[in-house]
Amino acid sequence: MLKIIHVSDTHVGPVGELVVGLDPHERLRQVVHAINGSHEDAALCVITGDLTDRGDEESYRAFADIVSELKIPYRLLLGNHDNRKNFRRVFPDVPVDAFGFIQSTADFSDIRLIFLDSLHDNHAGLGQICNSRLEWFEGMLQDGAATGRRSVAFIHHPPFSVGVRMFQQMILENPGPFLEQITTNKPLHLAFGHLHLTTSGSWNGIPYSCNRGVAHRIALSLEGEVTEFIEAEPTFDVMLISSSGVLVHHTAPTTGSSVIAREYPTADGKGLQVMLQPKIAEA
Ligand SMILES: [Fe+2]
Ligand SMILES: [Fe+2]
Repeated sequence: MLKIIHVSDTHVGPVGELVVGLDPHERLRQVVHAINGSHEDAALCVITGDLTDRGDEESYRAFADIVSELKIPYRLLLGNHDNRKNFRRVFPDVPVDAFGFIQSTADFSDIRLIFLDSLHDNHAGLGQICNSRLEWFEGMLQDGAATGRRSVAFIHHPPFSVGVRMFQQMILENPGPFLEQITTNKPLHLAFGHLHLTTSGSWNGIPYSCNRGVAHRIALSLEGEVTEFIEAEPTFDVMLISSSGVLVHHTAPTTGSSVIAREYPTADGKGLQVMLQPKIAEA
């Protein structure tokens, strides 16, 4: 079973700068610490874009400082808040395709991971998979199948509607050719970010999951036009992948002080619960 950590939407700014009133550096540090503490056996950590909030070099350097603490290898994707040129200045060794897009693959036995670059050159919210990126994707899917591998694709933007009005204009632009591609070549799973929501489902038989991200959370509103950000814990997903399927646990860093009780197994199945912190007094 291949264990992959999926992180998204870190939205790091320059050191000392808050984003939506929250400290993205501290939140990312908590996630890195949790991964190092409990998931050092994972093969890879994939961070699916919006690495920085403004795409400036200073923010990428701050981001690089924090992720360099990861004890497992990591792969970085770009989102709509990123800037390809500035990203490559800070990460000059990152794998790219023949056209300079931040696209690459990683093979693990009978599984191929495909990392896509959906950063749009001319729009702040929409995603883009142009013809050359799509051709590359097709080649990687077909080559994976030819070598007996099932593919899991990672991308920042969802390529289809997720039923949330505010995101309707911020999914993949002109998604038809991309959807045709996945319909034909059937990846095992699609993992994305961008939504700041915990979302999963299947599209035309292809399962997908969205990591809610490290930065601010968005309040779910299917019809709302105004985006509401709410304070909530940073998150990451643990993916267990085999050629027969993908299991995704949505989780969050825990610290010693956040554990309020422990339950020990007992022979009768009832369990023995021990409170670690006093009950919060009722108002
Ligand atoms: Fe984001
Ligand atoms: Fe995004």
